[in-house]
Amino acid sequence: MHRFLKILILITFLWAVTLPWTLNYLSTLSPINDTKKITLRKRDAYPTQHEEKVVIGVVACGKKPLEDSITLLKSAILSGIHHGLPALDAILFADDDNLHNLDLKVGELLASLKGIRFRYEIHPVIFPAKHHDEWRSLFKPCASQRLFLHAALPHINEILYLDVDTLVVGNLRKIWSEFGNMGTLQAVGIVPEHEVPSIGWYNRFAQHPFYPPLGLNTGVMLMNLTKLRGGFEWEEAILKSYKRFKDQIVYGDQDLLNIVFYHHPDAVYLLPCAYNYRPDHCLYGWNCKSAEIKNGEGIQVVHGNRDVFHNDKTCPTFRKLYKQFQKFDMSKQDYLKDLVMPYKNGVQKQDQHIYATVTQNCDTIENLFFKFVSS
Ligand SMILES: *[C@@H]1O[C@H](CO)[C@@H](O)[C@H](O)[C@H]1NC(C)=O
Ligand SMILES: *[C@@H]1O[C@H](CO)[C@@H](O)[C@H](O)[C@H]1NC(C)=O
Repeated sequence: MHRFLKILILITFLWAVTLPWTLNYLSTLSPINDTKKITLRKRDAYPTQHEEKVVIGVVACGKKPLEDSITLLKSAILSGIHHGLPALDAILFADDDNLHNLDLKVGELLASLKGIRFRYEIHPVIFPAKHHDEWRSLFKPCASQRLFLHAALPHINEILYLDVDTLVVGNLRKIWSEFGNMGTLQAVGIVPEHEVPSIGWYNRFAQHPFYPPLGLNTGVMLMNLTKLRGGFEWEEAILKSYKRFKDQIVYGDQDLLNIVFYHHPDAVYLLPCAYNYRPDHCLYGWNCKSAEIKNGEGIQVVHGNRDVFHNDKTCPTFRKLYKQFQKFDMSKQDYLKDLVMPYKNGVQKQDQHIYATVTQNCDTIENLFFKFVSS
């Protein structure tokens, strides 16, 4: 009896604490079989059906998910506004620890926005209904969410999936327009893991199949979810690959996707490295041609893997860029005047110093950011 009372009090307490938060949402929907609610918030009216719109997907789990996801959202919104995108939807997933705070933070961001129709949804982690319990037991819930966007988001047809440690520095409309170049079977637009075989990881070390010749990096993916739902047996392919190679997998779900796409190369649309620019593209010498073309558009999305957005030691250039977006005040500051131009001007000064002293390759990539502005 005593124990029952305790539980009752706990339940009442939890209910009271979470009630205001639950009521906060303008609407809730729950399209797939999961015990948790999916939340949806919006500020402006929905875009009309034919209005141009970009949908980005971000999974906020890990060590610094809040700060990183807000900084990423800022970079995407700013790119959208600058390039005249009418509407942007952000679909966010968070683990239980971050769900509430992420909602608060994005709500604040939303309140300070002008010049774009921005909507967002925040979801708890969701697995497909089929094999539900098996997925739960096999995968770290948050980290593998990107494998299941097709099932978690039945109301979404296409999405630009971005790792939480990425920043949009190019043109979001141009990135999205790559969907138009995909063939009928191509379901996912994705960048190779490497450009140069001599520093490739998969071709030198992997103990499992991978997309040839150098593997794929899954930090940025243009995903046609309709095709993933209807095309091949996506979930079965993942499950089969996992069971067969689970002891050989080193980089989690990226390795899994490499195995799946090894068996389904037709589903891949290769994007140039400028869409997922990483330290590996400059640390051992510049090797991302698409970012370096003179008069080209430069880097579209920067990916701060190796923790370079938070760690000064490896590639300070990446960290500096991250800081620039992090401290940017959306309600007061101007993208071009207060972020892009000072950055470019600062870079030029620094470059002279850098060229004079000989330094790491990554220190001189800064002119590849924001190439849409000529300095
Ligand atoms: C949802 O899934 C659970 C098992 O995970 C099952 O017991 C339940 O019947 C399902 N509910 C619906 C409505 O499909
Ligand atoms: C995604 O795939 C569906 C089904 O093949 C197709 O109708 C749709 O046009 C594709 N979306 C884009 C943006 O290409």
